[in-house]
Amino acid sequence: MSQGLVTMSYIAASILFILSLSGLSNQETARRGNYFGMAGMAIAIIATILGDKVTAYTILIIALAIGGLVGARAAAKVEMTQMPELVALMHSLVGMAAVLVGFSNFLDHSVILEGAEKTIHELEIYIGVFIGAVTFSGSVIAFGKLCGRISGKPLLLPARHVLNLGLFLITFALGNLFLEGAETGGGLIPLLIMMVIALAFGVHMVMAIGGADMPVVVSMLNSYSGWAAAATGFMLSNDLLIVTGALVGSSGAILSYIMCRAMNRHFLSVIAGGFGSAGGGEAAEIEGEIYPIEIEETAQLLREAKSIVIIPGYGMAVAQAQHTVNEITKLLTSRGKKVRFAIHPVAGRMPGHMNVLLAEAKVPYDVVFEMDEINHEFPNVDVSIVIGANDIVNPSALDDPNSPIAGMPVLECWKSGTTIVMKRSMASGYAGVGNPLFVHENTRMLFGDANDRLQALLKALQE
Ligand code: TAP
Repeated sequence: MSQGLVTMSYIAASILFILSLSGLSNQETARRGNYFGMAGMAIAIIATILGDKVTAYTILIIALAIGGLVGARAAAKVEMTQMPELVALMHSLVGMAAVLVGFSNFLDHSVILEGAEKTIHELEIYIGVFIGAVTFSGSVIAFGKLCGRISGKPLLLPARHVLNLGLFLITFALGNLFLEGAETGGGLIPLLIMMVIALAFGVHMVMAIGGADMPVVVSMLNSYSGWAAAATGFMLSNDLLIVTGALVGSSGAILSYIMCRAMNRHFLSVIAGGFGSAGGGEAAEIEGEIYPIEIEETAQLLREAKSIVIIPGYGMAVAQAQHTVNEITKLLTSRGKKVRFAIHPVAGRMPGHMNVLLAEAKVPYDVVFEMDEINHEFPNVDVSIVIGANDIVNPSALDDPNSPIAGMPVLECWKSGTTIVMKRSMASGYAGVGNPLFVHENTRMLFGDANDRLQALLKALQE
């Protein structure tokens, strides 16, 4: 394939990626967005393989077959609840690729560059390895935290800010040594030391972030993986990789900003770590009477209600209850009730988690509302049903300044006539804090697996 055709294919792929991102910004067009992305990626891969830079076809086909098989198996096997971990793991692979490409570029002496061009290339390698290593180790720790293998509690080393600053300054100094050493062929040691520091930096950065701030980390690592891909693009002089990386990097940065706003956090304080837990005090103990409720009483409350709001959380994903939720929604709507969904921006374990589940169950988009759109409506709501949600409906975020989630806006369902909370026990949510909603006088606790209980509720409503 001629270079001109490759460039044209790259432009077409870039346009498809932009269309894909714009499609993904809305639930109704998300499926189309995915198709654009897949088409763009297919064009990009074919054009790159057929381009004149690729010659080692045997190795390439073996690598594609192995990678494709592993990817297809992982995608087929992964449960919806494991998606966030899988995404974190994928980000780590982008980081690892940037590190490996950086080293192979550095060790490849077949391309002779001179003067400024050489310095720029070395800088690309140094920065690429740095971003790649931070992305890799940070994503591996995020993976561990998301699947519960590493505690969600922030690890707060003494003088951690000084430590971070120190590591950063050493990285700069090593950069200088690397550039000097690269002239004489001795840059490998500073590059290796910097990589170890960057790996430690990634581990420390994510370990210091408390459970409730993880959404920002997830989107931030998404952004880093984009910059790592862009750095790889610079090292390989591949324009499409630069464009794609920049698209992912900047959209991830915008998502991090949206997440920070949703959680009322400053981006820098999240990155610095330990936010919310460094306040000194302990979160208040939750005391009060619990009012359990059973299926028939719940059904009766719903029969009498005119306006109902459903609040899904991570537990709905665990119980895979979205289809039963949709059945109940259809039934209640057919009986003239106004049923709406309230979605908190950090509900579940990944951005848009609840929207994806509801879309999968074919819940109509026009009854699904973002927190800002519906929060002021709760005083006019007869019954709120909280399905496997906890942190996102925790009033202590507003009332208790010592709570690790203090300041985070939450869905104020306790203002509705009655709130039915569906969960299996009194256990805390991801942030590990008690929830006074469960002992609120208007709250009724419907204990059990969300899907089992909802199926029983559906049956009771149908009778
Ligand atoms: P959580 O606060 O994690 O609460 C989920 C609740 O679901 C748990 O208290 C659990 O209680 C219940 N549950 C689990 N399995 C269940 C089942 N089978 N049936 C019924 N209930 C079940 O979830 P949330 O309210 O959605 O809040 C999200 C949290 O995750 C926030 O702290 C957020 O910061 C964090 N986070 C979010 C993201 C993104 S990007 N969305 C990423 C990382 C972390 P029981 O065990 O008693 O049943």
